[in-house]
Amino acid sequence: MNESIWKKTTDFNTVDKNLNEIKNNKKVDICIIGAGITGITCAYELSNLGYSIKVVEKSQICSGTTGNTTGKITSQHDAFYDYLINSFDIDTAKKYLEANEQAIEQIEERIKKEKIDCDFKRLNSYIYTTKKEEIPILEKEYDALEKMDFKCEYLKKLDLPFNIEGAICFNNQAQFNPVKYIKGLVNKLLENNVEIYENTKATNIEKNEDDYIVTTEKGKIQAKYVIIASHYPFLKFKGLYSAKMYQSMSYLIAVETKKELPNGMYISISNPNISIRTAEYEGKQILLIGGGDHKTAKATTYEESYGRLEKFAKKYYPDAKILKKWDAEDCISLDKLPYIGQASTFLPNVYVATGYKKWGMTFSNVATNIIVDSIRGIENPYSDIFSSLRLQPVKNYEEVKNILVDSSKGLLIDKIKEADILNYDLKCDTGKIIEIDGQNIGVYKSAEGQIYAIKPICTHLGCLLNWNQIDKTWDCPCHGSRFDYLGKNISDPAFEDLERIEIDRDKEV
Ligand code: FES
Repeated sequence: MNESIWKKTTDFNTVDKNLNEIKNNKKVDICIIGAGITGITCAYELSNLGYSIKVVEKSQICSGTTGNTTGKITSQHDAFYDYLINSFDIDTAKKYLEANEQAIEQIEERIKKEKIDCDFKRLNSYIYTTKKEEIPILEKEYDALEKMDFKCEYLKKLDLPFNIEGAICFNNQAQFNPVKYIKGLVNKLLENNVEIYENTKATNIEKNEDDYIVTTEKGKIQAKYVIIASHYPFLKFKGLYSAKMYQSMSYLIAVETKKELPNGMYISISNPNISIRTAEYEGKQILLIGGGDHKTAKATTYEESYGRLEKFAKKYYPDAKILKKWDAEDCISLDKLPYIGQASTFLPNVYVATGYKKWGMTFSNVATNIIVDSIRGIENPYSDIFSSLRLQPVKNYEEVKNILVDSSKGLLIDKIKEADILNYDLKCDTGKIIEIDGQNIGVYKSAEGQIYAIKPICTHLGCLLNWNQIDKTWDCPCHGSRFDYLGKNISDPAFEDLERIEIDRDKEV
């Protein structure tokens, strides 16, 4: 898997990575599962209020979506407000906008207060189209924003190296380096005596009288409140998130060019889209180009993912040098609004924040406000529209079928003959599900000819996995869990590794 420029430039050397067990058994007020932007922002606000906190992270701080995002901090979430007014009502659209605008302000205040050096910059944000047939979509969006009394501009020209047919500008939005920002907050958490445990997978949450016991690989944590900020809630059935969310992948490349760079953040409304922003990297101003969204586990090619972005970069920036490339995975709910608040009616004092639809920089802040207010018993003006307990009419029909579990046959791994796997004709550096004696086996043959075989059944709810040739991973088409070619779990909601089929290396050809 490729590494983002954000992760490359930031080292969390302040965190003790060698803790082998949870340090003390003392009950804490709050246990937070997940050390991405939502978990860390909640920990920051709640520890400043005096709550005692332990954070557990199954991998490293910012190793998930936060470390791979575009880092745009904006309330302009594609052409979305016309959809909100039509699918919900104008009040919902206004609240959505207000909550995200407030998030921009609060993130800036936090950065100033803690003096965090994270390349924060106020910039305009634009949605645009280069296609005449998409002009009506932009016009409807503009009308929706006018109805909401939101001041924005309709433009026919941008400072991009190609002509456009139309654009809508949101003034005074922002961008930053998300991992440097989190590092600044983590430094404050350590001052506030928040304990952060990396490489510590949470595996269960159980009620214990008035508290909860969070079971992790390195010990148990007793807490009055639990916040599940682990991207995709890992609870299998409570809250039924697997029946109402799916995951989507997108790609980013970092590009160096001597051509003049644009001075804003841009995203096309076409499908597939193109996202553009500048960033600082190793003392230089560079360009980030993103896009190529597709549902996780949908078969895609290099040409359709990174290749498309590289082609775009070379077309408009002929001297473009590709510095880095990476991908991100995001959760999307069926009605396209996040789930924030109480995780389930059966779990009072357990909170969840997920389904940000690729706009997690502002939504992590909205989630923090809602969860902190709920813990303090304060009413939050936005909690109703994002409530994780809402009963939702389905607004995203095309995705419903994707969420239905693709049930698969059980496997009798013991009966698989190793010779049959080794004799299967597979090209080097490719993976595939092969059928042997009516049973599915996931096989990857490395560039050097080594065979790695797994049981290709997702450890979340049992869907048959697909091979991802770009990242060399096994991806789940049901709810987006991902596993590396060795079967190690790398993305929620599954948290257990795949079953490996051991191969005798001496017999390999
Ligand atoms: Fe749910 Fe795979 S992610 S079954």
